[in-house]
Amino acid sequence: MSRIYDALQRADIERQAAQGKDAAENAEPYFVSGSEDLPPIEAGVNLENTVLHSWKPSLVSLPTLGDRGEGIEQFRGLRSQIYQFRDQNPLKTILVSSGMPAEGKTFVAANLAVSLARNRNNTVLLIDADLRRPALHAILGAPSAPGLAEYLAGAAEVSDILQRNENPRVVEAGIMHAIPDLAFIPSGAGGDNSSELVANHRIEELVAALSPHFDWILIDSPPVLAFADAIDLARAADAVLLVARGATTPFDVAQRAQAAFANSRILGFVLNAVKDAPRRTSYYYDYDKQEAGSGSPKRKDKRRQG
Ligand SMILES: Nc1ncnc2c1ncn2[C@@H]1O[C@H](COP(=O)(O)OP(=O)(O)O)[C@@H](O)[C@H]1O
Ligand SMILES: [Mg+2]
Repeated sequence: MSRIYDALQRADIERQAAQGKDAAENAEPYFVSGSEDLPPIEAGVNLENTVLHSWKPSLVSLPTLGDRGEGIEQFRGLRSQIYQFRDQNPLKTILVSSGMPAEGKTFVAANLAVSLARNRNNTVLLIDADLRRPALHAILGAPSAPGLAEYLAGAAEVSDILQRNENPRVVEAGIMHAIPDLAFIPSGAGGDNSSELVANHRIEELVAALSPHFDWILIDSPPVLAFADAIDLARAADAVLLVARGATTPFDVAQRAQAAFANSRILGFVLNAVKDAPRRTSYYYDYDKQEAGSGSPKRKDKRRQG
């Protein structure tokens, strides 16, 4: 099992602002479509209409469904830090993002959702807002459509896209694992219109309408350095949780990903898939001491390298 080090540190707001200025200047312009022609969002959402499906989640992709193991422990640590952030400032809707593909956004979003749902009777909604490369439905073993794309296009209602699981357990290798109650909105079929769809502000209205029904809402997103979608999506979230992949994510990619969310509250980085775990759970890039032109981040604590 690869490991997750919760590398959460509160971002330095001023530093973000300084870095974000450059990113904002270099960012691609994005198309903002009008939402006048779309049907209005329902004033009240009745979750009793949620469609039940028989999900078949993947234990390989969801180590947090197990009973023990490093994956569970790592996500418990991450969960604790998320609680601490909420204690400091109101926090419910978290966008999970990163600079590049395959850094573990979907893995972290799905496992953090399960970890939260298994604790304190939290009600959790997981939204697949990566309309370009949706993957959460495959991890959950759930239908991929209709979903967010159809909703944003005005072709589906909340009650059409919101799923719950009626299958309370998954059995693998003769061992039964309980599946926590989780609500899920799959991506649907966004296709080439993904940018326009997420820019039309209905995602903000959707999250606002669903927010009273959940303790936590996690939104999975496309890589922010490739598409503007995640920046649009961040407007619907209280905060952004960034993911970097150990031994894979170049420092400048992590730095630019952080800068791209200059207008958002950044919780910090999850350093994902790191081998040879340190004993300590706190690990983070030290941006302040990063030297110009250096290819890798300096670390606070040399013992944590590896
Ligand atoms: N910590 C991890 N341990 C094991 N596999 C991982 C881990 N993080 C990511 N993966 C795997 O790496 C691949 C890419 O991860 P994914 O979450 O889909 O990345 P992203 O959403 O950033 O594109 C997936 O096959 C995923 O299951
Ligand atoms: Mg993904």
